[in-house]
Amino acid sequence: MSGVDLEALLAEQVAYYRERAAEYDQTSSLAADEPSRAILADALEAFAPRGQVLELACGTGQWTAMLAKRSVELTAIDSSAEMLAIAAARVQDSRVRFIQADIFEWRPERQYDVVFFSAWLSHVPPQRFEVFWMLVAECLDEAGRVFIIDELPAVAAHEQVLTEAPAPAVQRSLNSGARYRTVKVFYEPGQLCERLAALGWDTTIQQVGWRFFYAISKRKKSPPSR
Ligand SMILES: C[S@@+](CC[C@H](N)C(=O)[O-])C[C@H]1O[C@@H](n2cnc3c(N)ncnc32)[C@H](O)[C@@H]1O
Repeated sequence: MSGVDLEALLAEQVAYYRERAAEYDQTSSLAADEPSRAILADALEAFAPRGQVLELACGTGQWTAMLAKRSVELTAIDSSAEMLAIAAARVQDSRVRFIQADIFEWRPERQYDVVFFSAWLSHVPPQRFEVFWMLVAECLDEAGRVFIIDELPAVAAHEQVLTEAPAPAVQRSLNSGARYRTVKVFYEPGQLCERLAALGWDTTIQQVGWRFFYAISKRKKSPPSR
């Protein structure tokens, strides 16, 4: 599989979420699981996302208002104008700045205290995993923290998993009947921790029910110089 195939899959993922925006809040996996949402919200509250906060792939803003609550400023990025329009209508807060950008192209203009992403890491193809985490590191100041929400491998049984794609992927259908492929990487928590440790991140992961996990990550302290 070539890089061109991967680019086409990522473009399809962007197109999928643009078309899904209007139905996203009714069909997102959290919409049907209020108990898990409450646990994840409590965990995010306890994490206390203060200071300058960056939200990657904010979508319709399901977490944006909560992130904004204690922030000095919140920058929320998504590639879909349709998603951002819904998020902007939902979160009317002068501290929040929405930016339409492709995360694989975007570069930060400043450093943040917190980087947050929900239902995004599983959409990053393995070929871009390391570069993506370099971006996260570039976005954070020295003591910066990361909060991640995503789905567990058990979810694969409820997806139409594709076997011949340039990255792990699933096929999704919309109310219109349109079908799209999206990248979907299911991480087993222990393996994700190890993978991130190898890149210099200290991570703790907590499972929430059978479907979700949240993770908190910080860069490891570099060894003291002699
Ligand atoms: C599963 S949704 C998650 C939305 C939100 N974080 C949540 O938890 O509800 C994934 C989001 O990633 C966005 N997205 C897809 N590809 C992107 C890219 N290359 N750059 C920025 N955003 C992208 C989509 O538009 C969509 O809003």
